[in-house]
Amino acid sequence: MNPSTDYIPFARPSTGPEEEEAAVRVIRSGWLTSGIEVKEFEKEFAAYVGVKHALAVNSATAGLHLALEALGIGPGDLVATTTYTFTATAEVIRYLGADPLFIDIERDSWNIDPAELERAAVKHKGRIKAVIPVHMGGQHCPMDEICAIAGQYGMKILEDAAHSFPVKTDKGYSGTIGDAGVYSFYANKTITTGEGGMVVTDSDEIARRVSVMRLHGIDRDVWNRYTVRGGSWRYAVVEAGFKYNMTDIAAAIGREQLKKAEAFYLSRKKIAESYNVRFEGLDFIIRPPVSQAHSWHLYIMRIVPEKLTIDRDRFIECLGEEGIGTSVHYIPLHIMPYYSRRYGLKPEDYPEALDKYGKSISLPLFPGMTENQISRVVDAVKKIGERFRRAGI
Ligand SMILES: Cc1ncc(COP(=O)(O)O)c(C=O)c1O
Repeated sequence: MNPSTDYIPFARPSTGPEEEEAAVRVIRSGWLTSGIEVKEFEKEFAAYVGVKHALAVNSATAGLHLALEALGIGPGDLVATTTYTFTATAEVIRYLGADPLFIDIERDSWNIDPAELERAAVKHKGRIKAVIPVHMGGQHCPMDEICAIAGQYGMKILEDAAHSFPVKTDKGYSGTIGDAGVYSFYANKTITTGEGGMVVTDSDEIARRVSVMRLHGIDRDVWNRYTVRGGSWRYAVVEAGFKYNMTDIAAAIGREQLKKAEAFYLSRKKIAESYNVRFEGLDFIIRPPVSQAHSWHLYIMRIVPEKLTIDRDRFIECLGEEGIGTSVHYIPLHIMPYYSRRYGLKPEDYPEALDKYGKSISLPLFPGMTENQISRVVDAVKKIGERFRRAGI
């Protein structure tokens, strides 16, 4: 291995012998699907973020679908959300026959703009049933403003906290402030179970509905059905539900990851701060806004096109040539063929999202990144910027 030339991935899961032993323990136990491990993971996760109910599911997409269903969203409803997100946030609205109403993002962040949300609420008078703020890249949304608008216009709030675990704010953890919140444990997220997610809520009603709908609309969970003595085979199907439960193998891995969540967070924060310090004074990039309330799932820098002779795509190619993995978060949904065609949306309808999309690059960021790797990323960014600096500027 050559640390000076090896490829630096954009993301890498951090797992160790603890996760390996936990998975083996479950495999050897004879119980692989949802059972004790899931129950314990839910209990521990609920205690960690300080909520009444945590419900484990097999992805955040499943969790968003279930939570939205439990909030009563159905055909013909409008659900406001940001255009600057992954398609999962909006596709679940379509699953329920409702329609997403895309909102532009703030000037200084990649998060939904509360002023634009309020404008939409006024325009669509009472038709927006819910809002899904997405804590983009891990930066907590302006929830005070969003809660005030939602309260005034009668919208439910479902937080897409896929990126923002474990962000602590003075109102509680990111994801626990709305009516419900959903975290993702996908392979590149801040903690992972390979695939997985968690729905959190303080509402008994939402929790009950999510619990029934995540397992075929059956009124008892699998563990209950197979372990309770006497009549354990009997159950009632009370709804046409889904198959969204988490396995015990995933939950056992998740429990180990949860123990490391704070250490992972501190490591990510340190790397992001290191980037911010070392990029200071560079005029051809804009650093992400520094905020206390950030999980640093993503470090998104923006290029300043006026200072460079190359565009964002070429900048990414050059980083690739230096052995640096990157990504772009995200191609806004309103320019995706499905959404633009269905809702007649034009790229320029969301100017802030379009502008940020054209300039954004997500740099490598994962716990365990070495000093050498951080320096290589910083040096590569500087080198490319100097090489392609626009003459006379
Ligand atoms: C903002 C956002 N919401 C939801 C999801 C869906 O998460 P999952 O892959 O766990 O279904 C993702 C996945 O990357 C995401 O980035």
